Amino acid sequence: MFPSELEPKTMRKLHLRPCFLLLTSMLFSLTIARDTLTPADTLTDGETLVSSGEKFELGFFSPPGSTNKYVGLWYKKVTVQTIVMVLNRQNPINSSTGVLTITNNGSLVISDQNSSRIIWSTPATSLENPVARLLDTGNLVVGEDASVSADNAAWQSFDYPTDTLLPGMKLGWDLRRGLNRNLTAWLSSSDPAIAPYTMAMDIQGDPQIFLWSGSTRTWRTGPWNGLRYSGIPEMQTYSMFTFTYVTNQDEIYYTFNIRDQSIISRLIVNQTGSAQRLVWLNQTGSWNLFWFAPKDQCDSVSPCGPNGVCDPNNSPICDCLQGFVPKSPTNWALRDGTDGCVRKTELDCRNRTDGFVTVAETKLPDTSSATVDMSLSLDDCRTKCLSNCSCTAYASANISGSGSGCITWSTGLTDLRLYTYAGQDLYVRLAAKDLGSTSNGSHNGGASMVAIVVPVVLGTLIITLIGCCLWRRRRRRIRRVARRGTMTFGDLHNIDEHSGKDEVDLPLLDLATIVDATDDFSMENKLGEGGFGPVYKGKLADGKEIGVKRLAKTSVQGCDEFKNEVMLIAKLQHRNLVQLLGCCIQGEERMLVYEYMPNKSLDALLFDKSKAALLDWQTRHRIIMGIARGLLYLHQDSRFRIIHRDLKASNILLDKEMNPKISDFGMARIFGGDETEVNTRKVVGTYGYMSPEYAMDGIFSVKSDVFSFGVLVLEIISGKKNRGIYLSDPKLNLLGHAWNLWKDGNALELVDESLAFAFPMAEVLRCTKVGLLCVQERPEDRPTMSNVVLMLGSESATLPNPRQPGFITARVPLEVDSSSSKQDSVSINEISVTMFEGR
Ligand SMILES: *[C@@H]1O[C@H](CO)[C@@H](O)[C@H](O)[C@H]1NC(C)=O
Ligand SMILES: *[C@@H]1O[C@H](CO)[C@@H](O)[C@H](O)[C@H]1NC(C)=O
Ligand SMILES: *[C@@H]1O[C@H](CO)[C@@H](O)[C@H](O)[C@H]1NC(C)=O
Ligand SMILES: *[C@@H]1O[C@H](CO)[C@@H](O)[C@H](O)[C@H]1NC(C)=O
Ligand SMILES: *[C@@H]1O[C@H](CO)[C@@H](O)[C@H](O)[C@H]1NC(C)=O
Ligand SMILES: *[C@@H]1O[C@H](CO)[C@@H](O)[C@H](O)[C@H]1NC(C)=O
Ligand SMILES: *[C@@H]1O[C@H](CO)[C@@H](O)[C@H](O)[C@H]1NC(C)=O
Ligand SMILES: *[C@@H]1O[C@H](CO)[C@@H](O)[C@H](O)[C@H]1NC(C)=O
Ligand SMILES: *[C@@H]1O[C@H](CO)[C@@H](O)[C@H](O)[C@H]1NC(C)=O
Ligand SMILES: *[C@@H]1O[C@H](CO)[C@@H](O)[C@H](O)[C@H]1NC(C)=O
Repeated sequence: MFPSELEPKTMRKLHLRPCFLLLTSMLFSLTIARDTLTPADTLTDGETLVSSGEKFELGFFSPPGSTNKYVGLWYKKVTVQTIVMVLNRQNPINSSTGVLTITNNGSLVISDQNSSRIIWSTPATSLENPVARLLDTGNLVVGEDASVSADNAAWQSFDYPTDTLLPGMKLGWDLRRGLNRNLTAWLSSSDPAIAPYTMAMDIQGDPQIFLWSGSTRTWRTGPWNGLRYSGIPEMQTYSMFTFTYVTNQDEIYYTFNIRDQSIISRLIVNQTGSAQRLVWLNQTGSWNLFWFAPKDQCDSVSPCGPNGVCDPNNSPICDCLQGFVPKSPTNWALRDGTDGCVRKTELDCRNRTDGFVTVAETKLPDTSSATVDMSLSLDDCRTKCLSNCSCTAYASANISGSGSGCITWSTGLTDLRLYTYAGQDLYVRLAAKDLGSTSNGSHNGGASMVAIVVPVVLGTLIITLIGCCLWRRRRRRIRRVARRGTMTFGDLHNIDEHSGKDEVDLPLLDLATIVDATDDFSMENKLGEGGFGPVYKGKLADGKEIGVKRLAKTSVQGCDEFKNEVMLIAKLQHRNLVQLLGCCIQGEERMLVYEYMPNKSLDALLFDKSKAALLDWQTRHRIIMGIARGLLYLHQDSRFRIIHRDLKASNILLDKEMNPKISDFGMARIFGGDETEVNTRKVVGTYGYMSPEYAMDGIFSVKSDVFSFGVLVLEIISGKKNRGIYLSDPKLNLLGHAWNLWKDGNALELVDESLAFAFPMAEVLRCTKVGLLCVQERPEDRPTMSNVVLMLGSESATLPNPRQPGFITARVPLEVDSSSSKQDSVSINEISVTMFEGR
């Protein structure tokens, strides 16, 4: 061939290629990514319909472990095939391949490909141009031409849910068509046929949603109270969802939506009959269990019978309402409460002497036979109830705003339970005699006055006597200690002149001042016991509150060394480090005076279930960020490179605004003597927070602080101690537990229940991941604090995947030298620091 002949050919090819590509891509999109089906075409096995926004895909599938074919719907972008709807769940194709068509009369038909035997079909419609279309909501709609939507559909799959409620889907009744939309579980993971587990709305009385097992009710949501279901208090805090309840002449239904459209979430009834809300996690590629029901013993329907109250935090869980007694005391004593309770005194309706007792924080009793009147106020409701002799209780039907609407019961109150929060008030009618002291207790006032006054007077006398004695002892002591101090050091203020080279001005406080401020180190003022001595609260004469750390007298450090060390600490100035206000050296006494932290230390709040609610997610996040910044300052940004070596919840103090302040840094040198020896010989710190290389080999670096920080982060997220035991595997500590949850894609299960899911999921997951990165086994894998601050602070930073943490078992290796284990057993508050001057 001649080159001249070749050239034009090549050029033509080059011109053609883009056209060809365009054509194939058009063809591709036409054949594969269509979202409609018309009578002119068919959908055979292997082909799919894809919704226009590529959210859902519809086609033939076989469940795992089965060769049967079904037409189903799944998420296009969820990497684990998750079937959310099955058309022919009761009628599988079991012989050959199937085909989905829409007939000219608008009926969807699934048939056997060769025999044309119809396996499943929808009723015929009177459409001119029937078209089936898969919408981006996951709804398969049939209607007139391609503009069909859910509003003008002749048939839609959302009316016939399988086991899944998708956002925008309705659970409940269409009264015009007599349509009861409910969720029914799959028989097994390989068979989508109807199982006896259903989630359905019962519209008798005040409508409620029930879980059913066959014909038995197994769980009840309670009525909708304007904000949420009465029996799902946590619903209120799910800020990522909007829940809607609609009731009118035509429809009564419940539906939900997700604020952030990129989040994928569904509500299902699973194969063992529980309701679960799952959220897809991109990061881990798995479904996370966000909520489920039933949860506890009180969630089963009416464990305590009529007029009984179930409280899961009590033992036994059943109790009778005020004014009621067990119907069969023998059964009740055997902890079978299902017979319930009966009135002590019959109501006395005619004389109008009955009253009401308020039961707070309840899940309203079963409203199947209750009467609702939305037009009444709560006061009218009370009047209505009093005026009808069969009324036994009333409550507000809509607690949104100031409360409105009226529910009245005329039967026994069944399935009543208590919550610790977000329950609602129920007013139970009682005979005047049973109303008792709660509403009217003046008759026994005389006796109770005596009961109160006598102990108070006695107590005051005793306290005064003790106070006098203590005061005398304190005065004597001050004189004694001060005398000795003067002998040893002479004029305290001379010390300043020895090393007066530096500009830091740290006040030296007089011992007598501190003795006065702390009331002679009285027990009442003692805040805690640290490894190097007790900590006291004090109040200076000018009213300023201080924290005083009184160092143990075993110190061998000289005065100048101590002072230099104190000066060093005093130079550390950061809003996340506790501020040293001064010190006191007198005689054998050495004391450090800090700013006072009214919210005490983090552990006091975090691990106390009754207080953990004070730490909402925003606060926890702020604390994590604060600690990270404080630590970064110690590691990098201060004039020295400081390794804290004993970072832990009890060393994080909280100020008035709950800002974290790292405390107890800079102590090791006071006691340690030669710092190079401290590094290797004496491992100080706290088990559970120590990195493996430090606890085992005594090697410490900034990365050992990073490890402790990671433990702290996981503790803050979970509200649990690293050294706690986990039911799922008692051999694991928090790190192991967190790691397992993370690996299995259940990271959100780690989060403290007291947060009640009121948190931004992405932020919590980010913090968890950072925490796990920090506790990795190998120090070199752990990020530096500057990286940590970056990763925590930026939503766009990509985080590497954590590897297995060090120390995931509950037991700490025994190779730790004895000096440290002794210290650990003596005190929970070891402290130590080593400072490298310069770099
Ligand atoms: C296949 O399905 C048809 C009806 O759907 C049923 O009659 C037949 O018994 C099934 N065959 C097998 C082998 O399950
Ligand atoms: C709808 O069409 C199918 C097939 O095209 C036919 O078998 C069926 O009888 C029709 N139904 C009505 C109600 O016309
Ligand atoms: C279905 O058709 C295929 C070929 O298209 C054939 O091999 C198979 O035997 C047929 N099955 C039935 C049940 O007719
Ligand atoms: C669920 O819906 C189906 C179909 O509407 C109905 O037959 C069934 O009774 C419903 N189940 C319950 C428990 O309401
Ligand atoms: C159903 O959900 C409950 C509650 O989350 C769970 O304990 C149970 O294992 C689940 N059953 C199945 C088969 O997944
Ligand atoms: C999840 O990943 C998909 C695709 O990778 C993306 O479109 C979506 O925005 C992600 N969602 C979230 C919540 O990150
Ligand atoms: C209530 O009225 C009845 C008569 O209907 C009377 O016997 C009874 O003593 C009254 N009870 C009270 C507490 O006044
Ligand atoms: C009293 O309440 C019952 C049950 O709610 C109701 O059937 C009855 O009509 C009411 N009586 C009056 C007088 O309103
Ligand atoms: C409940 O009360 C709120 C505030 O008063 C009101 O906006 C809402 O419409 C009420 N809901 C119903 C169902 O009456
Ligand atoms: C206290 O109870 C008596 C009857 O036991 C009643 O007459 C009186 O009104 C009640 N007082 C208050 C303040 O409720």
